[in-house]
Amino acid sequence: MSISPITIQDRPDHSQDLVITPSSSGLALKGSITVPGDKSISHRSLMLGAIAEGETIIEGLLLGEDPRSTAQCFRAMGAKIGKLNTKKVVVQGVGLGNLREPLDVLDAGNSGTTMRLMLGILASHSDRFFVVTGDNSLRSRPMSRVVKPLVQMGANIWGRKDNALAPLAVKGTTLKPIHYLSPVASAQVKSCVLLAGLMVEGKTTVTEPALSRDHSERMLQAFGAELEINSKTNSVTITGQPTLRGQKVIVPGDISSAAFWLVAGAIAPGSELVITNVGVNPTRTGILEVLAMMEADISQENKRLVAGEPVADLRVKHSKLKACTIGGDLIPRLIDEIPILAVAATLAEGTTVIKDAAELRVKESDRLAVMASELTKMGAKVTELPDGLEITGGQTLKGAEMDSYTDHRIAMSLAIAAIVASNTSTIHHAEAASISYPNFVTTLQQVIT
Ligand code: S3P
Repeated sequence: MSISPITIQDRPDHSQDLVITPSSSGLALKGSITVPGDKSISHRSLMLGAIAEGETIIEGLLLGEDPRSTAQCFRAMGAKIGKLNTKKVVVQGVGLGNLREPLDVLDAGNSGTTMRLMLGILASHSDRFFVVTGDNSLRSRPMSRVVKPLVQMGANIWGRKDNALAPLAVKGTTLKPIHYLSPVASAQVKSCVLLAGLMVEGKTTVTEPALSRDHSERMLQAFGAELEINSKTNSVTITGQPTLRGQKVIVPGDISSAAFWLVAGAIAPGSELVITNVGVNPTRTGILEVLAMMEADISQENKRLVAGEPVADLRVKHSKLKACTIGGDLIPRLIDEIPILAVAATLAEGTTVIKDAAELRVKESDRLAVMASELTKMGAKVTELPDGLEITGGQTLKGAEMDSYTDHRIAMSLAIAAIVASNTSTIHHAEAASISYPNFVTTLQQVIT
């Protein structure tokens, strides 16, 4: 009888442990896989579908917990969103400004995107009252970054800690246009302001210090909004009160989910993986640039444009990695991939420095602190910096008992580290992966040879 190297164990508190035992010759990954739909595009397709006129059809929606939270919130406000599935979800929108007051609290679960983008939409719905909340992690994440511009636009918002933390209460009102200079390069902040600007008479502009993902801009234009984009100043201007019309949205595979396989294929000897249908929007491909700097063997094949978003198949083969420095304007273009890049760095030759990434401290967990502590348990040489990590690579990772801190990207990053470790690892709270990648463990079992 062969022993499965990857097992899930249920715990009495309903959490799950992922137990990974590499064979003495290591675990190589082989095959052709697809990854689930892009999380950012999935949220936006549900939201814009809900507030547009007529029917929106979504193909390839991510069925993770986060988009489910978005769907639930907008259903509670009158949008008709059919049963979520990857083939075809039909959304009947209510038309701009026509969301109804929900009868209960809106629960964004673990999803910062749901809460921050939705606040922009709710703030402009005059005379309706909303309360938004989320899980333990989301209730500790900073909402002041969106409350501040919304209050400048005239919004009425109250919350814990001087209106900085959820639960937040919103009394919708008529907003006025502003030019917001965002102190952070955050697509969630940019999108919140643009969505608030939809209902405003006049032009609303947001300028960010570095370019963050532009899925909102692309999709708002596809739905009929008028946008001016100044790529020299990283500014976007929206003209308020357009007619938004339902569209067909085809969601590409999420490059942030593909990132786990790109690194796994690069670091596990003997591996060769093809990941088909991955979104390669240039505001998201920082991971490909960094892995190229690290001398990973990755090629893009069959590049095409699908429903306004660039898509490609990615092929990765094992190779020896080199350390590199990651910082500056690259950070917003790979913000969610830093935990898995930290894993790659533990095996690369030399010292990798990740800087300008203090934003990681306010994600689903403090990703700098958690990656430093959990990789150290595996014998990696990691120093935590105020805004990043310094990782001296070339160490042999050893199996360890670790925790995801209920953060989906930590759970999956540690699982990939465990594949190349010298003995068994246990990852507590591995169920968190279902936030963005419900079939992660099944796919891992499939590609292990
Ligand atoms: C997202 C933007 C990013 C990212 C998050 C999804 C989005 O957050 O970390 O997972 O869909 O707009 P920030 O824009 O706050 O950096």
